[in-house]
Amino acid sequence: MPFTTRITELLEIEHPIVQGGMQWVGTAPMASAVSNAGGLGILTALTQPSAAALAEEIARCQSMTSKPFGVNITVFPTINPPDYKAYAQAVLDGGIRIVETAGTPAVREIWEMLKPHGIVILHKCTAVRHALSAERAGVDVISIDGFECAGHPGEDDIPGLILLPAAADKVRIPILASGGFGDGRGLAAALALGADGINMGTRFCATVEAPIHEHFKQAMVDNDERSTDLIFRTYRNTARVAKNAISQQVVAAESGGKPFAEVADLVKGVRGREGLLSGDTDHGIWSAGMVQGLIHDIPTCQVLIDRIIADAEAIVRGRMAGMLAGEAVMA
Ligand SMILES: Cc1cc2nc3c(=O)[nH]c(=O)nc-3n(C[C@H](O)[C@H](O)[C@H](O)COP(=O)(O)O)c2cc1C
Repeated sequence: MPFTTRITELLEIEHPIVQGGMQWVGTAPMASAVSNAGGLGILTALTQPSAAALAEEIARCQSMTSKPFGVNITVFPTINPPDYKAYAQAVLDGGIRIVETAGTPAVREIWEMLKPHGIVILHKCTAVRHALSAERAGVDVISIDGFECAGHPGEDDIPGLILLPAAADKVRIPILASGGFGDGRGLAAALALGADGINMGTRFCATVEAPIHEHFKQAMVDNDERSTDLIFRTYRNTARVAKNAISQQVVAAESGGKPFAEVADLVKGVRGREGLLSGDTDHGIWSAGMVQGLIHDIPTCQVLIDRIIADAEAIVRGRMAGMLAGEAVMA
């Protein structure tokens, strides 16, 4: 039986499971597979080279699912920013109802553009204070990333076990728990900690439909919870990536006090993308979280989501209820 939460009701989806925006991964095959399985799939705007290409990708995704899906717009700290407003206009023109935002405070311009059109904004952040200021600015859902997450965990290093209830104590709007989620135990725990659903990135990369080379999917199965590196710490733009030859070079360069300019070539996005397509897991950096330690197979999105829901239900109805009924239940 599905879980009904504020997230399933607001987003009009069957299960409280969202696939977060993922550069180079969040394309129509990925997003439509998650939406068709009853979650919320999300296209990643900047994976497309232009706003026109995003418009085409939205149309392609609409041809692959009749269920709701969203678009992620991540505002990066960069000197030559892409035309974010053109991407946002493609979202509006494409009839998209749900947008996930992330990134620098400049993201507010995107909210101001989208909100008058009734777009539901999911804003991803990594601190309670940022969640509260986004809530005050009128976003609809907070997606809060704990320290475990792939991508940018922020600089506070607060794991989900603390960050989620701390956010739930203060934030009034629905909350998605993000970072480190990959199975039914995580979903049950997130709901217990005060979230209304979960957001997953890494776990969805290790699915049949993820548009990346099989070597990366297998690497996530083979890796464990220690297989990540934190890079860009010394530049105060921390990113959690899969531990590989390149991430280790970056960590070594940073501990030697090297400036960003000296690692820029190693970490550039195009290099990461080339690796994801060619299958060379040591070619560039690629985002992955500690949840790799909980990934043991490469299922379809449907099998994965069904399993997460069934396992979470079994935990709540069986394990937890059993304990209250006086039974000492095994995990
Ligand atoms: C390959 C990959 C690429 C990502 N790219 C983005 C991105 O472009 N924008 C963004 O907001 N988050 C990005 N993320 C973060 C995810 O949306 C999500 O917040 C994160 O993966 C959650 O942690 P988890 O991997 O432990 O599930 C990315 C994550 C992965 C795994």
